[in-house]
Amino acid sequence: MKVRKAIITAAGWGTRFLPVTRSQPKEMLPLVNRPLIQYAVEEAINSGIEQVILITAMGKHAIEDYFDRSFELEYVLEQKGETELLQEMRRLSNLVNICYIRQKEQLGLGHAVLIARDIIADEPFAVLLPDDIIDSRVPALKQMIEVYEQRGTSVIAVERVSPQDTVKYGIIEPKEISHRLYQVLSLAEKPEPQEAPSDLGIVGRYILVPEIFDALAATPPGRIKEIQLTDALQRLLKQQVISACEFEGVRYDTGTPSGWLEATIALALKDPDIGPGLRQYLRRLL
Ligand code: G1P
Repeated sequence: MKVRKAIITAAGWGTRFLPVTRSQPKEMLPLVNRPLIQYAVEEAINSGIEQVILITAMGKHAIEDYFDRSFELEYVLEQKGETELLQEMRRLSNLVNICYIRQKEQLGLGHAVLIARDIIADEPFAVLLPDDIIDSRVPALKQMIEVYEQRGTSVIAVERVSPQDTVKYGIIEPKEISHRLYQVLSLAEKPEPQEAPSDLGIVGRYILVPEIFDALAATPPGRIKEIQLTDALQRLLKQQVISACEFEGVRYDTGTPSGWLEATIALALKDPDIGPGLRQYLRRLL
């Protein structure tokens, strides 16, 4: 069955980016010339996704406004003869079919996925965490959908992380199947380095089968009293094979000021309009 729907989770407090996120959703921070959330939505579209389910929360309505139509703005741009900008604004509001669910309590990533159950119904689906920006030739989600189509299992995106960083990620115990493709033998959410089953950390891209919902519903709160998707995957593993894909591309964690800055500089340097000037500026600065 084709992967048509994607959940994008945007309900977190953004505590790693306080105080910036006190009054603005972290997903609306700009990355070069677009807000972070747009990268996730465009990655989903460029991977063949037809419907996006955005999980939001209190204080996140800027995201809904962003993808909505603004007749006033369109009118002003039309009056000014700003045709190109006007077209871009219209394109944005027609990007994809998006529906929104508000997560009323911050009960974790697993809970955020579970509340989309009725909309996903009985089909495989994608999950994207917009903090993880992946710069790649082939969209990372598309690479994962290809693995799903070959293997028919849930697929988790992974990348090598340094030993001291295992506490920041879900970590898998892998069995190598082929180049960059693994069968998952077990998973642990944010283990201490000495307890980590490998150095393959989970990155915020998943293809999940609908059976994950029963697993999530049966998963008690885990680490930091939240319902962890990693724990539900460990539960699903008792019934089903799960695969992991070491995608090709560079991942940035834009959920922290330093990761966001690195992503900003790296992507801006690649931008044909901004890149050359920025490179000269950085040379002067250093
Ligand atoms: C979540 C997951 C974790 C994963 C990470 C990837 O953690 O729980 O398993 O490695 O996303 O970004 P969070 O970063 O939301 O705490």
